[in-house]
Amino acid sequence: MSNPSQKKIELQNVSKTFGSRLALDRLSLSIEEGKTVTVIGPTGCGKTTILNMVAGFTTPSTGQVLVDGVEIVGPNPQRGFMFQRPTLLPWLKVADNVEFPVRYGRLQGKSLNAKERADATAHYLNSVGLSDASNLYPHEMSGGMQSRAALARLLMAESSVLLMDEPFAALDAQTRFSMQQLLKRVVKTEGLRTVLFITHDVEEALLISDHVYLMSAAPGRIVRHVEVPFRGHEDYRDIVLKAEFTELKHELIDQLERLVPT
Ligand SMILES: Nc1ncnc2c1ncn2[C@@H]1O[C@H](COP(=O)(O)OP(=O)(O)OP(=O)(O)O)[C@@H](O)[C@H]1O
Ligand SMILES: [Mg+2]
Repeated sequence: MSNPSQKKIELQNVSKTFGSRLALDRLSLSIEEGKTVTVIGPTGCGKTTILNMVAGFTTPSTGQVLVDGVEIVGPNPQRGFMFQRPTLLPWLKVADNVEFPVRYGRLQGKSLNAKERADATAHYLNSVGLSDASNLYPHEMSGGMQSRAALARLLMAESSVLLMDEPFAALDAQTRFSMQQLLKRVVKTEGLRTVLFITHDVEEALLISDHVYLMSAAPGRIVRHVEVPFRGHEDYRDIVLKAEFTELKHELIDQLERLVPT
């Protein structure tokens, strides 16, 4: 069934029109299993539209979007989504929010009993450092804690593909940095996850990704692909000190600025 050279996610010559507006123009992008790929680009260039198509919330006007070689026909729990805001349910404690994807006793088609659900909740709360906060309500948590809870809930669904639309954009710099490190860690330790991440922050893209794609202003096309040379085994403190990192970061920021319509 699965072919080793087959891509986990593939957009083939995808265009998307909304009324008379061309939002995406013959865009092709492929992502290998287990990789973190980030898309950056000017506002309105179609980044969220790409994620929505991979999630199955919307379909391309022409071209194809495939997961495991199969055309996407609609949303599927195999593909989890994390939004810019944590979107926790305010009337549920954090543990119940994290348990929510499996609340009705099923996980990717398997039945889970109450103990299995509680164990999985405890595991993911622990993996994001929220074991001591399980009884708090969202309004009793800081923005960073809410973001951790949203990440735990995303992991809980055990989706093989994580779709993240500027998930850390509303956080302060310090918290954002710790969320980036946390994401890198959990992607490595919590099973094989393929991540498609959207951000406006070039440094964030370079710190968390295996590949970065830069999009043009609308109608969106891929104008640059960077295979990030320093992810993986290296500590972020070593990465940010490299001249190569600073050069690439400034080069991408300059290119991004030139793409923004004036
Ligand atoms: N459901 C929709 N109906 C009509 N137009 C839409 C719809 N969704 C997106 N668009 C349009 O498509 C274009 C791309 O939108 P999209 O949200 O994908 O941009 P984006 O790159 O995510 O921008 P931002 O960085 O501001 O989040 C925009 O012009 C937007 O107005
Ligand atoms: Mg967007």
